[in-house]
Formats: sequence, C-alpha cells, structure tokens
Amino acid sequence: MRKLLVSAAILMICSAFLFAGGAEESTNSIVVATDATWPPMEFMNDNSEVIGFAIDMFDEVAARAGLEVEYLPTAWDGIFAGLSNGAYDAILSSVTITEERQEKYDFSIPYINAGQILVVRSDSDSSLTHLDDFAGLSVGTQIATTGELEVKKYPDVVSKTYDEIGFAFEDLVNGRIDGVMTDTPVAADFALQSSAYEGVLKIVGEPYTSESYGIVFQKGNDELRETINTALQSVIDDGTVEELIKKWLR
Ligand code: ARG
Repeated sequence: MRKLLVSAAILMICSAFLFAGGAEESTNSIVVATDATWPPMEFMNDNSEVIGFAIDMFDEVAARAGLEVEYLPTAWDGIFAGLSNGAYDAILSSVTITEERQEKYDFSIPYINAGQILVVRSDSDSSLTHLDDFAGLSVGTQIATTGELEVKKYPDVVSKTYDEIGFAFEDLVNGRIDGVMTDTPVAADFALQSSAYEGVLKIVGEPYTSESYGIVFQKGNDELRETINTALQSVIDDGTVEELIKKWLR
C-alpha cells in the first residue's frame, strides 16, 4: 500500500514537471487580454492581481476546458488591435457583442447581459434624469465603448471620452462633467459600492440599451472558440454563473 502511494506521488510530481515544462509552448495554455479597470467585472486588487466576476468565471471555464490561462492587463484603447496582431488569444473584458465588432472578430456565446446607464452627482439638479435633459451638459464615457456610442446619439450632449472609466467618475465627482454613461454593473460599483464615492453619486433612470458580453477571438479561431463555448455553456447551465452574479453583482 505504502509503495503504491509513493509511486503515485512520484508519478504526480513527474507529470507536474512535464506540465510546467511544456506550458510555454503548449497549446494548452492561452493568454487572455483584459482591461482590468472595470469593477466588478475585471479589475485589480491592492496587490495588482486581476480579479472580478469575469476572472472567477473564466478560471472555471479554463479549468473545465483543460486550459492554463494567463491574464494580460491591457489598455482598452488598442485591445482589439492586439488581438488582430496575435499578441494574445482572446479578450475577456466585458466586451459587448455588436454587429460592427462581429464583422472583424468572432465571439463566444453571451455570458451576461448589461446595458448603459447614467450616473450623476447626488446633489445635481433633480430634473437631470435622462440624456434628453443634458443639452449643453457633458457626459463622460470610456473611449470607443458602447457607452460612447450611446451618448453620441444625443447630438446636444457634449461627449467626453476617457481612457479609463475611473477618470470619468473622478471628473464627475469634481464637477468637471455632469454625468457618466457606462455599463450597469460598473455604474453600480462606482455609485453604490465604492467607499470613496459613497453618497456622492447616484444612478438615474433606466438602462438605455440591452447588451450581451462575449469573449472575443480572432476570426476563424474556431477550435479555441468552440472549446471555450462548451465550457462556458456548462458554467452557465450548472448555475456557476448565477453564483458569481450573487457574489459580485449585488
Ligand atoms: N461593454 C462596453 C463595450 O463593449 C464596455 C466594455 C469596457 N470594458 C473594459 N474592461 N474596460 O464597449
């Protein structure tokens, strides 16, 4: 019995080495880009580790798909170009599946729904509840997001774009802009969960859009997309995603 245990242990150690040694070149390891400035979906904790709903979800997806995953923090501006250039295998970054993006990239099945919503300062004029009321006022978004597209539908509103949504919220709090339009979970995080902004910001009105997030792949990378879709479907079906919604999106 003891002998058996020892050889089992040796076997485990050997295979661990094999796996580690091969990881670099192995097709079983992938690099996933994420703009980790988007709490609670993907963001950095105080130790500069990438965490969030999407990371927990994808860790589980990768485990079920037999993939080792490295998350590569990547600026939003340029994150699609990097995928095209082959700098990484996929983007996991709360990317809304849009027709325009589908022309250039392939998407996984959707993993969550979100929509654009408006955030203002708690002390702002109570008549400011909709972008219709924002003629001549400025609204911040992260550049090249569906939030920016939404604000641009209102030509009288002054659109201000930022590299990171956190900078837009900073400007809102400091009175340099009048509103921020962003994905609902992110709006809720900054307006309701953030200790720095508690009581200072509020969400107004209803979501402007209904959007689905997907993981993004290079066009034609069907093998990886299908592998991930299968695992993603299973974490949706068995309630894992629902658990993560409870954990991260209150
Ligand atoms: N859902 C929006 C879009 O796809 C914003 C995503 C931004 N994601 C991020 N991690 N900064 O345009």
